[in-house]
Amino acid sequence: MLHQITYISTARPGLSLSDVEAILARSRRNNRQTGITGLLIFDKVRFLQVIEGRLPDIEATFLRIAVDPRHRAVVRLSQRQIDAREFGQWAMASHVVDEAGSAADLVGQVDALTETLPDPNLRATLRSFARIRGAA
Ligand SMILES: Cc1cc2nc3c(=O)[nH]c(=O)nc-3n(C[C@H](O)[C@H](O)[C@H](O)COP(=O)(O)O)c2cc1C
Repeated sequence: MLHQITYISTARPGLSLSDVEAILARSRRNNRQTGITGLLIFDKVRFLQVIEGRLPDIEATFLRIAVDPRHRAVVRLSQRQIDAREFGQWAMASHVVDEAGSAADLVGQVDALTETLPDPNLRATLRSFARIRGAA
């Protein structure tokens, strides 16, 4: 039985892009071992992440993530059972807005990244996240 959790959070002030690269590297290694797939979007202020896999695995991973001091105000947007993975190819696909990145880049790239997602609600959640600008 596959489950999927989607949450948003706020990055710890001062978190750097290299900190985010380190999070991604560790996540991909762990997720490959536990059969978790998903997507992480970071816009310099907030994270939006989708994780999917077997229920005990995503619950254990989410509990670790939720207490990670590199972000706070972790809010679960949805948790649901899924018939098939939305991000089957990716131990953790990512989109990180770099220093040169503009709001338009984020919108365009998240739109492209979510083009093939089977679930219209998840696609809408991710796309609207890209369109809300944070405090940066
Ligand atoms: C925004 C964010 C997303 C994360 N995503 C994952 C993830 O998908 N998988 C994972 O194992 N750890 C993720 N982590 C890291 C965990 O919080 C934790 O540091 C890590 O799982 C510990 O693994 P380790 O015991 O191998 O060091 C994330 C952390 C943050 C701040």
